[in-house]
Amino acid sequence: MAYETIIVEIEDEVALVRLNRPEALNALNATLLDELSAALTEADRNDKVRCIVLTGTEKAFAAGADIKEMAEKSFVDVYDEDLFGPSMDAIQRVRKPIIAAVSGYALGGGCELAMVCDFIIAAENAKFGQPEVNLGVIAGIGGTQRLTRFVGKSKAMDMNLTGRFMDAAEAERSGLVSRVVPTPKLIPEAMSAARKIAEKSQVSIKAAKESVNRAYETTLREGLLFERRTFHSLFSTEDQKEGMAAFLEKREAQFRDR
Ligand code: CAA
Repeated sequence: MAYETIIVEIEDEVALVRLNRPEALNALNATLLDELSAALTEADRNDKVRCIVLTGTEKAFAAGADIKEMAEKSFVDVYDEDLFGPSMDAIQRVRKPIIAAVSGYALGGGCELAMVCDFIIAAENAKFGQPEVNLGVIAGIGGTQRLTRFVGKSKAMDMNLTGRFMDAAEAERSGLVSRVVPTPKLIPEAMSAARKIAEKSQVSIKAAKESVNRAYETTLREGLLFERRTFHSLFSTEDQKEGMAAFLEKREAQFRDR
């Protein structure tokens, strides 16, 4: 499918989705959010895709929600359309893993979009921030909620109240990103991580994603029970038999997603 604001390429069972509004530093306008949620939903359904990498350009992952598009809206306008609700819900429903590969600015909705993904790999030039307070608003897609769970209250408050940016080293130190790589290596590193994920049994990959996400939604006791029961249920799969047999026979496992 042809899109106006994103580019989708499929290579080695990985969908590489690039935000493509460089003239606006990939600001998230309605067209981009509609196209992105459609493309990710489509990748989730596509049997040829086992993992997704979401990226932007070298200068910007995304510099936030599109301020030009929002500036004149009233409360009733944004409330009525539930601005950002439906597109972000669609992205959160994707069951295949999504890696955010962040280079340059990930600000406001851009930082929040990266946090909706399953984990973030950052280039050395990445800059994260929640500068909405400079616009007389606050974050609207998780900048006060997800960011607080990633980096804790003190840093989340600092970023949301002062609007300052966090560089890649600080983001890694704070647990916002899983790894930092030299900028030119960002896409190769993210694609290599995605290919590693694509090699595994997709049953256990989906179960792992669901279980980690449970940690955000429930108590520790319930989360541990969910994890343990899910672990138990995987003993009903052919891939568990294959994975453990392959280890004992000192060979590579051949998973069949069964
Ligand atoms: N929305 C719309 N357009 C944007 C944009 C945004 N969020 N960010 C950048 N652009 C546009 C600029 O207007 C400019 O376009 P023109 O050439 O037509 O003027 C173009 O992208 C390049 O930007 P700059 O000239 O500003 O580039 P720079 O290198 O000097 O600065 C920057 C880069 C620091 C990222 C700066 O662009 C900036 O501060 N952008 C806004 C960041 C921001 O406030 N984000 C939060 C948005 S609100 C939000 O996201 C709400 C939410 O939580 C859901």
